[in-house]
Order: sequence, then C-alpha cells, then structure tokens
Amino acid sequence: MCGIVGYIGNKEASPILLEGLKRLEYRGYDSAGISTISTNKLLIHKRSGKISDLERDLVYREIPGTLGIGHTRWATHGEPNAENAHPHDDCTGKIALIHNGIIENFDILKKELQSKGHQFKSVTDTETLVHLIEEFYNKNGVLEQAVREALLLVKGTYGIAVVCGDEPDMLITARNGSPIVLGIGANEYLIASDVAAIAGHTCNVTYLDDNEMAIIRRNNLVIKTIDDRPVEKKVEQISFDLDKIEKGGYSHFMLKEIMEQPQTIYDSMRGRLLEEEGTAKLGGIQHELESLLYARRVLFSACGTSWHAALIGEYMIEESVRIPVEVEYASEFRYRDPIIDRDTVVVVISQSGETADTLAAVREAKRKRGKVLGICNVVGSTIARETDAGIYLHAGPEIGVASTKAFTSQVTVLALMTLLLARMSSMSASRGREIVQELKSLPSKVKKILDGHEYIEQIAEQYANKHNFLYLGRGYNFPVALEGALKLKEISYIHAEGYPAAEMKHGPIALIDENMPVVFIATKDSTYEKIISNIEEVRARKGKLFAIATEGDDFISTKVDHTIYIPPTIGLLTPILTIIPLQLLAYYMAVKRGCDVDQPRNLAKSVTVE
Ligand code: G6P
Repeated sequence: MCGIVGYIGNKEASPILLEGLKRLEYRGYDSAGISTISTNKLLIHKRSGKISDLERDLVYREIPGTLGIGHTRWATHGEPNAENAHPHDDCTGKIALIHNGIIENFDILKKELQSKGHQFKSVTDTETLVHLIEEFYNKNGVLEQAVREALLLVKGTYGIAVVCGDEPDMLITARNGSPIVLGIGANEYLIASDVAAIAGHTCNVTYLDDNEMAIIRRNNLVIKTIDDRPVEKKVEQISFDLDKIEKGGYSHFMLKEIMEQPQTIYDSMRGRLLEEEGTAKLGGIQHELESLLYARRVLFSACGTSWHAALIGEYMIEESVRIPVEVEYASEFRYRDPIIDRDTVVVVISQSGETADTLAAVREAKRKRGKVLGICNVVGSTIARETDAGIYLHAGPEIGVASTKAFTSQVTVLALMTLLLARMSSMSASRGREIVQELKSLPSKVKKILDGHEYIEQIAEQYANKHNFLYLGRGYNFPVALEGALKLKEISYIHAEGYPAAEMKHGPIALIDENMPVVFIATKDSTYEKIISNIEEVRARKGKLFAIATEGDDFISTKVDHTIYIPPTIGLLTPILTIIPLQLLAYYMAVKRGCDVDQPRNLAKSVTVE
C-alpha cells in the first residue's frame, strides 16, 4: 500500500528519500516519485515501476535540496503511470503533495476547482487536494493555513506531506486515518507512513493521531489539531534492528521470514510462560482478564491471514475456556451495526496494526462502548494505540507481503491467552503444565519441518504448472486449509480454495479429476478416520493427493501421492506446525513459476484504504 517519506535537515534529501522508499517497497506499490525544494524551486521526478528505476533516472536528472518528500503509490484512482504517481503539484508548480488514503468527495471538489480554472494532470483523487491547497494559498499566502483550510473541506482518509517552493524551510504533514510517524534527529526531522522508512536515522519518534498536523521547520516541530488547537506529544524511543529488515542472505523476505519462525515463535512466548503453575503471563491484558472471563461472548475481528488466526482462536477458546466466540471479517463487522453490549469483549488481530477495516472495527466497537483488545505485531501502530489493552506478537518486522511468521506468532499468542484464561477457570494444573511443555517444544519442532524444505521444493517443481488446488482440513486444521490456500493464490497466482474436509462433497468434489491436486491436512486426532474417508473419495476420482500427516503415520502414505510429516503435538497447537509445509509449498511453487514473491501483483502488505 502507498508509502510516505519526508526529510528536512542539512543533508541532501533525495538519497534519504530513496533509501526510505526502498524500505517501504515491501508494502506493495506500482509507481514512485520524489520532490525536493532547491533554491525556492520545486523539483519533481516520478514514474511507474520500481524504486530502482527511479534511482537510475536520478543519476541523469539531479534533484538537489535538503527538504523533500517521496512516495510509493499503490493505484486506487487511475492506472499506475507517471501522471498519476505522487508527488502531485498545483497549477503554479510551487506546491507538491503526497498522500496515502482516499479523498471520498474529490469529484465534487474537483469540479468546483476546474470551474475556477484549475488544470488537472492526473485522474487521481489526490491531485484535488493540492489544487485545493493552492486555492487557499493564493488567497492567504500562508501555507499552514492553506493546508488546514483544505483539509477541513476533505472527506475521507489521508496521511499527507506538503512542501512549497515559497517555503524552503517548511514541511507540513497531517493525518486522518492513515499513519504518520515523525522521527526527531539531530538538526533534522523525518516523516514516514511506517517507522521502517526512518530506521537508521533516529530512535526518537512521535506519532500523529487522527486530525493532527505537524508544521516542521528546520529547527522546530509544532503539532496542532487540524482545527488549530495545540497538542502535546510524547516522544518515544524505538529500537529498530536494521538487520531485521534486510534479507539476511535469503533470496526473498518471505523465505527469510518462514525460516525465522523457530525464533519468532520463541520470541512470542519469551517471558510469558509460567512452567510450575502451568499457565501464562500476559502483562498487556492483565487488567482485562476479569472482563474476558466474565464475557458473555468474545468477538474476534480481523482481515486476511489474521482472520484465519482468529478462527483458530475461536476453536481454542471455545474448547478450553468455554466462552462463546464469534469471528467476523472486520470489513463486515464495521458496516453491520454489530451487537456489542457490556458483556461482549472484542478482540482485533492485525499484524500491521494499520489495516483500515480492522481499525474501523475498533472504532465502531468503542463507539458502542465495547471493551476492545488488540493482538498486533507493530509496536506503536494505530490499532495498538487505540485499543483498551492488548498483546504484542514480538515477531519482529514482517516485510513479505504474504504473512507467515506473524500468523504463527498470532496463533502462539492466542494459545497463551487460552491457557491463561483456562487456568483461571476450569483447567487443571497438570493439563496446564502439559500445554506449557508443548509450547516450549514448538520452536524445535518447527525447525525440524523447515529442515525438510528440499522435499517440498521437489514437489513444487512437479506441480508448478497446475491451475487449481484444493486444501482440506477438519477442526483446528480447517483454518489451516484456508490459510494454505490463501498463501498459494497470493504469491503463485494459482487458484486455490480451502474447505472443511467434510464440505468437499457439497460442491468442490465436482472439480476433482486427475488434474486436481488436493492437499489434506490429516494429523492424528479425533477426526483422523473421517479424513481418511475423504481421502478415499478423492482417490476414487483420481485426484493427486498430498497429506500433511503426523510422524509415524505410515498408513497414510499408502493412500496419497506425497506425504509431508510433522512432529506430533496437542490439538490446539497443531496449526503452528501444519501451516509450515504449506507456507513452503506456496513459496517454492511461486518461485518455480517465476513470480515475484516479495512483490505479488495487486497485493499490499498493509491495506490502509477500504
Ligand atoms: C493484507 C496482507 C495480508 C494480511 C491482511 C491483514 O491483505 O496482504 O497478508 O493478512 O492485509 O493485515 P493485518 O496487518 O491487519 O494483519
């Protein structure tokens, strides 16, 4: 999704902007541009394609200046080309603006501006805003005031940054619904939509909240509300390990993040297990445990992979804590006038903590006076800040667009939450201790599965030309089937569907013939016999069969074409192991098909628009 970076200081801005934009590449984009102010002149260079293309152009076309803004665009209004790329400038070529989000009333505003003589170069919603600022600037000659007046007329969401040739010492940024972080360095300030873009320059940051703007001069920073009231902000220290946002020798971020999972799962549990007592400690929700335990219902809301983790959370909590749980897509929840009373606890799950629909679900739940907890990975993200309490994943930055390590950490954290709540209600200490031991053994079991990656790579080679895949599982492995199918379609563009195995006969079975690979997640549990029957049904129709099975289950390998074994574990932790081979399968299939794994087409890492 679109990325923003800005710089004001005493260094050349363009290399800093390009470096920042490269760090935002992982969010997904299709065009990029930068703009600087050099001796009161606005310079812009933008194009479709990669940041490396932009960088190459800049060797021939210098963009000097110590104040500048840069943007990666993920097309919403208008195709990805140079005209629609940001920064956008006004009719006079003095003011430049970059924008994340969507201006919903741009059509009306644009018509009005056109009737006043403004000439538009692009078909974007964003360009309207720069002309609107120009309109006010022509009247009052004060950039800050012009930005403010323009924003007061805008409906929709934005994170913006504005520079102007007449104001070579001023960078203005503002936020409503799209994140902006400010980095405070020595004689310099950076702004970005994601802390990754400013990592390496400063550890001191502050975050804009909705309806706030920052007026940044070379030697000072003032934050106000959009309607001009002063705001006091806390400066926070971030620790950002640069190594963690580099590929570390792997060919793709996704592979690096898959391989990191023994460590990231461990990190999600670190300091949170109480072995003797057979329970967990979760400081972030400590004061909300009573609300959870006495809740009449827990409502999970999330999008994408996080929604799959939520489904697993539902199974865990209902099984072990016996509280009714519902899971709802955040995009549905927010518009459905959900029933939330004081006995409902809403738990949102989001890797990025910035997903627009999930954030809207948080706000809707809070509006209805519900208690809202968050499970997020990105520290200081909007959802983390706006929820009443929460649990961080501590999985480190996830750069790969297809979520992998965040998913296993989400499931791990949900298991910790389940353990803690169950131990506070009816679970015995001995069962609690058993779960703690199983949790502790997860990193080495995940490592063992990862060590078998070559076998999965070989299978991928044989199936890379297929057009469809079916993933089937029961119980805890049903959400894993959904997630396995999602991984495959996201990065290899192979059509894949996940189903509860028993549902196969209500439709998907019609698709099965000798060209249809079917992946069964068939671990040894209470539904094993049933899933063997489903395997027979596919065999009878000559489908190609894969099984993710429990070590020691030799029988299943006589029934299927390919068996990938996982070490045994207890039911509720099974998804953390069964998803690993499916992540690897999706990855290798995509690589064999020549797909750009870290930049899958049309997808964004963090979906900050509706
Ligand atoms: C995007 C990403 C997915 C992710 C989903 C939810 O679609 O491509 O990988 O699962 O957003 O993101 P969140 O950050 O809220 O978990």
